Formats: sequence, C-alpha cells, structure tokens
Amino acid sequence: MGKQIAIDGPAGAGKSTIAKRLSAEKGFIYVDTGAMYRAVALYFIKSGKDFHDEGVVEKSLPEIKIELKYVDGVQRVLLNGEDVSTEIRKEEVGNAASVTSVYPPVRSYLTALQKKIAEENNVVMDGRDIGTVVLPNAQAKIYLTASVETRAKRRFDELTAKGESPVLSEIEDDIRDRDYRDMHRETAPLKQADDAVLLDSSDLNIDEVVAEMKRICAEKGV
Ligand code: DC
Repeated sequence: MGKQIAIDGPAGAGKSTIAKRLSAEKGFIYVDTGAMYRAVALYFIKSGKDFHDEGVVEKSLPEIKIELKYVDGVQRVLLNGEDVSTEIRKEEVGNAASVTSVYPPVRSYLTALQKKIAEENNVVMDGRDIGTVVLPNAQAKIYLTASVETRAKRRFDELTAKGESPVLSEIEDDIRDRDYRDMHRETAPLKQADDAVLLDSSDLNIDEVVAEMKRICAEKGV
C-alpha cells in the first residue's frame, strides 16, 4: 500500500486548498474526489437529463467516463475526454453534485476509480467518505471542519473577488442544505471516521491549518 492521507469534511471547510498545499509539500498526488462527483453532475446538466430521477442517472452511467490527469502536478478532470476543470466549479454544478452523489451506482463507480488511483500513487485525497469508505486503511485521517458562518463568509469573499455579486444568506442556506444532504444520505454519508483527527479551521489561517496537518501526519508516520 502506498502512502495515503485522507481528508474529509463538509463543503467549504478549506479541504482542497489545504490538500493541494500538503500534497505539494509531500510530493504526493492530490485527488479531489468532489471534482469527480461534480463532473458526473455536469454531464446531467449538459445533457438535460433529469438527475433527480435515480433510474435515469443509473441508466446513463455507462455513457459517462471520468478521468483525472495531472498537468504540472495540477489535477485536471475530464468528462468524456473534455477538460471540464473550470466548468465544474460553478455553484449550480456543486448543488447538482450533492444530489447525484447520493445514488449508490454513482458512488460505486467513482469509489472504484479512487481506490485504483490510490493503489498506484501516494495520495492526499479529499472528499466526504475517504477515511470511512474509500481509504479505510489510510495512515493519516483528518476531519476538517469549520462553522457554517465561517464557510459561507469564505465562499462569499471568493465569489466577490471573482467579480460576482453573491448574497451571504443564500450561500449560508446552500451550505446548510448541502451539509444536511451529505450527512444524511444512506450510502457513505459524511462523518468523521473513528480514527480520524478532528481539526476545526474556523479560527485558523491557511498556514496554521497546513502546519497542524503536517504535525498530525508526522505523528502518524506519513
Ligand atoms: O467538495 P465538493 O463541494 O467539490 O463536492 C461536491 C459534492 O460531491 C458534494 O455535495 C458532496 C459530494 N461528494 C461526495 O459525496 N463524496 C466525496 N468523496 C466528495 C464529494
């Protein structure tokens, strides 16, 4: 087994920013599993198929090919051969992903892909079910969280910096809805693995979170 660092937590806790930094420092591959779920959701948005219908989603899966490739160490996500790394970042896609990721056939398809990547590489992998389902034997597991208000404010600042005009209360509502769906779905819900270390980033900056992660990883020998 290669080296595995599993980071789970709710939307907007800063997982991807931290995981990118940590993977660069360790020389591991960063696997953003949320991007894979988003790419599946994007397929349904683009094709106009009803993604609220589990039967439709399951039937469509053979038409969906998700691949990860790395350009200068940066993950790119391909949907049926097309690089959709930018498009999947839209709020609409994130919200749709929270719906389609509930369906067990979607999860088993992507979980198998994620396990395979971890068999072939040393990884920092982030998501919702990495420490519990995808990499249950990871040497280091971290559950990264932050309050709803902190996460909404960070997202608000990000969107404002991009020139958008977000509404803070709407972002908070979206985050609450997404948390609820992620934590209450039947298959692989978001939860802290028994052997994961809890890290609350509400009052920490990025450097402090990375330092704390590195300390945890060192303690676990990875
Ligand atoms: O982390 P994110 O916002 O990019 O994730 C998008 C959606 O995908 C989110 O609503 C939860 C889902 N997801 C999941 O169910 N399991 C994962 N391992 C990663 C993401």
